[in-house]
Amino acid sequence: MIETGGSGRLWLLSGPHSSYALHVTERDELLHLHWGRRIALADAEALAADPLPAERPFESALDGHEEYPVEGGPRFVRPALSVRSREVRGTEWCFEEYETAADPATGHELRLHFHDSLHHLDLTLHYRMRPGCDVVERWTTATHVPNGHRAPLELLRADAATWTLPHRDGWRMSQLHGRWGAESRLLRGPLTPGERVIGSRRGHTGHQHLPWFALDAGDAGEEHGEVWTGALAWSGSWRIAVAALPDGRVQATGGAGHDDAGLVRLDPGASYTSPVFAALWSGGGFGAASRAWHAYQRDHVVPGGRQPRPVLYNSWEATGFDVGEAQQRELARRAAAMGVELFVVDDGWFGDRVSDRAGLGDWTPNPDRFPNGLKPLSDEVHALGMQFGLWVEPEMVNPDSDLYRAHPDWVQHHPGRRSTEYRHQLVLNLARTDVREHLAERLDALLHSAPVDYLKWDFNRCFTDPGWPGERYPERLWTAHVEGLYELVDRLRAAHPGLAVESCSGGGGRVDLGILARTDQVWTSDNTDPLDRLHIQHGFSQLHPARVMAAWVTDSPSPMLNHRRSSLRFRFVSAMAGVLGVGGDLLDWSAEERAEAASWVALYKTIRPVVQQGDLYRLRPPDGGGLSAVQYVHGADTVVLAWLPAQAFGAPVPPLRLRGLDRDAAYRDVTTGVVQRGAVLAERGLRTTLAGDLDAAVFHLRRL
Ligand code: GLA
Repeated sequence: MIETGGSGRLWLLSGPHSSYALHVTERDELLHLHWGRRIALADAEALAADPLPAERPFESALDGHEEYPVEGGPRFVRPALSVRSREVRGTEWCFEEYETAADPATGHELRLHFHDSLHHLDLTLHYRMRPGCDVVERWTTATHVPNGHRAPLELLRADAATWTLPHRDGWRMSQLHGRWGAESRLLRGPLTPGERVIGSRRGHTGHQHLPWFALDAGDAGEEHGEVWTGALAWSGSWRIAVAALPDGRVQATGGAGHDDAGLVRLDPGASYTSPVFAALWSGGGFGAASRAWHAYQRDHVVPGGRQPRPVLYNSWEATGFDVGEAQQRELARRAAAMGVELFVVDDGWFGDRVSDRAGLGDWTPNPDRFPNGLKPLSDEVHALGMQFGLWVEPEMVNPDSDLYRAHPDWVQHHPGRRSTEYRHQLVLNLARTDVREHLAERLDALLHSAPVDYLKWDFNRCFTDPGWPGERYPERLWTAHVEGLYELVDRLRAAHPGLAVESCSGGGGRVDLGILARTDQVWTSDNTDPLDRLHIQHGFSQLHPARVMAAWVTDSPSPMLNHRRSSLRFRFVSAMAGVLGVGGDLLDWSAEERAEAASWVALYKTIRPVVQQGDLYRLRPPDGGGLSAVQYVHGADTVVLAWLPAQAFGAPVPPLRLRGLDRDAAYRDVTTGVVQRGAVLAERGLRTTLAGDLDAAVFHLRRL
């Protein structure tokens, strides 16, 4: 809901639990008033009547109070907007007008229009509240208004938003950091004076940081306290700078691009739209903040976010590049017998792709491996009752490929400079229309040929040579590549309405709200070790729902990273916390193992609606090596997944105190039939029989 007050210069945005207020002063300063618990319009008007704190020596009265600090004038904070024309740098705006628009499906939007007459620049700040949500979505559009002159304007930086936090005595910041094989690990620590900058200079979201932050006054817990949290919807280079200012105020500014070295050049008539920076306040701790994020993504971000995701099989860890039709058919038969619903052929099916040295770019089946194309395999997979999926990495080429030989100029490169190869591959310049046209045509033909129901869309290296010969303003490649990627995926989805897409980038290198707006799930990490995964998944769940978190059961000992031995039970229960998949070498699994796996898959299908659509309660985090557990509540159903890495000192394993239950109701264990009272499950807790090393269990309770 958006209300307007203060003679058309004040706005109050409210969700079910929170409010966000701002106003434009008589001097056209756009000031922040409130972000937190719900307030009334009269409260916001009272806040607006309060003058800014008096000026202090060497400080700006505006710093820490503005909704969107621009470069120039009496400001010393990091600007969200930095504009340069031939002679003048910085922005000085007038407030022009506001508009509100309501749409029952997409929500309520507020647009604030400003104009800088010297730069002929129109600037619109957008605010949107989705129905039933506390998320505030913000973004910015900048337009160079035609003015009779031909000189362009340069946007060095145009952030999506600046978030202003209320006054508290101290602040703590949570972030999700990592690297390949160890993504999205939660780190929480004090915010000290200065700036904490997270981001990516890599051209993709990156494994190093998820574009997310959470701030609390040091007093929030999993289920209590105030939390302010934001996430950027962008899959290229990005930056979020969280500043603890000298007077104790905190602001977080973020958008596309890491540096301020140049974003886009706006010829008269041209405009730039920033990605969305979404944020929410929760009064119910980190757990409630996550649940609000999850519901927002399922309802308003992820296409078909309320539809269940199928159990998939992927042979990458089993076969590597050694892919063949007979072997894939046999894997498909075994997968189908286990209850798998989607069979995905990973890397190695196309071009000369028998290793990572060749073939990327040539998206036609390898004639030795699939002499009659992919259709016979796809037909068999469909006949087995499964969907058929394929791995692709459309943004890349190997220099040893027909595509590169035909179009060496299609890759990002600086003429005369050495090109860096990672994994023997180069990055295509998706900012170029001809490159996108070619890919759209190729992928379209591929999708029709088999037919294909699912694409695992990979991206296996960072940008290193972002050159674009012939382009007047090559800096725009950083954003235009990502916009090109979005356009390409959107176009394929529109042409193939049943198609599902998984975002992958060497595991979790491209996980963000921007890619999730056009994909169905993401590959969380190449690390499929079931114990490491608990940590990765714990971090991932701070922002994203189980509904998008792909997780596979692979071989033991795990061939990839830790060579850990673990039971099928432990591996399955770990992977059941997301969208379950199987990635082990089924040709090597015994009949007993496959039968056991089939029973886990069957169990997963019974709890899937609860896991994928339910409210998540993180009962015990995986740190510390002891018992950890998550709980999902969906209607009358509750599912608990619990893991014990190692029992120590003969200590009894503590009961799990459940949350989100109806205390006065009775709950029946669907498997054992045992009935327990809600209040008992909440107070004493659910007793598990976990013991020893790497034990795990699933509990499914239903309210009577
Ligand atoms: C990336 C992905 C893997 C696999 C390989 C194939 O590393 O994350 O899952 O698809 O590429 O080359």
